[in-house]
Amino acid sequence: MSEHKNPYPGENNTGHFWDDDQDVRELNNRPPRWYMVAMYISAISVVVYALYFPAIPWFGDNTKGMANWSSIDELNESVAELEKYRQEKFADKEKAISESSLEEIVLNDDLREYAVKTTKVLFGENCAACHGAGGQGNDGFPVLADDDWLFGGTLSAISASIINGRQGNMPKMPMTADEANTLADYILAVGSGAAGSDAGKALYMTKGCIGCHSPTMAGNQALGAVNLSDGIYRFKADDQKASVLRTITHGINQAHDPQSQSAVMPAFGASNVIDTVQIKKLAVYVHQLGGGVKVKAVTKASADPRYTPVVAKSDSFADVIAAAEANYKKNLDQGMAWRDTGKMIKKAKKDKDVVLAEKANTQAVNALRQASVAGTAGPTF
Ligand code: HEC
Ligand code: HEC
Repeated sequence: MSEHKNPYPGENNTGHFWDDDQDVRELNNRPPRWYMVAMYISAISVVVYALYFPAIPWFGDNTKGMANWSSIDELNESVAELEKYRQEKFADKEKAISESSLEEIVLNDDLREYAVKTTKVLFGENCAACHGAGGQGNDGFPVLADDDWLFGGTLSAISASIINGRQGNMPKMPMTADEANTLADYILAVGSGAAGSDAGKALYMTKGCIGCHSPTMAGNQALGAVNLSDGIYRFKADDQKASVLRTITHGINQAHDPQSQSAVMPAFGASNVIDTVQIKKLAVYVHQLGGGVKVKAVTKASADPRYTPVVAKSDSFADVIAAAEANYKKNLDQGMAWRDTGKMIKKAKKDKDVVLAEKANTQAVNALRQASVAGTAGPTF
């Protein structure tokens, strides 16, 4: 810097020098034209963009912009597009799932794999909060990935758990604190593989436990009464004895007792969150997490006339619809009817639609096959 007189008086400089030789100096030229033009253009585009797109914060909201565009709309459109693509691409698989029994899906490699792959996200959204992302369970929420089931690991038991929900019930058992203590020690001992005290065993046999947990302590899946002999705890806790004592003295799902253990599985069949095809896929998914009871090969409908499907005499509408109606009636008798079979039959009759009649018949035959495998009334879809 220097205060000497300007050695370049005619030059358009600011009089500001950066070195002692007074060579390096600051000039006062106008910026190039291209630069100014670019600057004006950007200034104008700021205004245009601000008017065209949502941009300006406005009393807790923002201006909507003339283009009526929003990133959320754009996202929703892309998601809808993707969904449409998926639906078209997988329409046949979804249809096959909706028309097959759970057993058939599990036994069909292609369908089973499809169901498992496409259900991971659904499980994550609806079930993982309680059961853990891999079905590994959480405090108070049972593991779904092992073969220790409260209510059963058959496809129909799993499906019933999801559709109807579950709520185990154990009343608080009347006994003294000493008795409860002895009984809790006994249960923990048996769970760890030891024999346990005679006093504990006597209490177990006489205090009403066997009615639900069975004399062998193996439990009863119809009641959700856990197996008490395997050392796997439904209510896992750091202090397992305290948890067992609490269960014995306060019961499970006893609304009047705030100390009672809570165990409520919501009924997804009654909610509109997931549809019936998704429930089927979820049942298969949970079954495949590792603990599902092995599915026997689907046999041809057994000779039992209750399960033997009526075969249409010809391809004519009258014959096909007659067969569909007869098979659907058998479905209803076996308590294994799919809800939309009836609707399909009605619509087919109204429109004289032979294709729909055939579809209804296939579905009714599948349901019969499912009934013959399950042997008992299972879930109705
Ligand atoms: C709000 C928490 C919660 C959510 C969400 C939930 N569950 Fe459950 N689930 C439970 C509880 C608690 C139980 C045990 C009920 C009992 O012990 O009476 C249970 C039990 C089950 C069982 C029976 C397990 C057995 O051992 O027999 C299955 C199967 C099951 N859930 C599947 C699912 C699926 C699939 C979803 C998602 C669609 C789901 N659950 C969502 C809390 C939940
Ligand atoms: C009315 C049926 C019923 C009776 C009687 C009953 N229980 Fe239970 N018990 C259940 C059910 C159902 C569960 C599991 C509930 C659930 O998870 O939803 C359970 C769970 C338990 C658990 C929790 C185990 C774990 O894995 O965390 C213990 C401990 C237990 N019972 C002990 C007893 C003892 C001891 C008696 C007798 C004094 C008894 N129960 C009597 C139905 C019964």
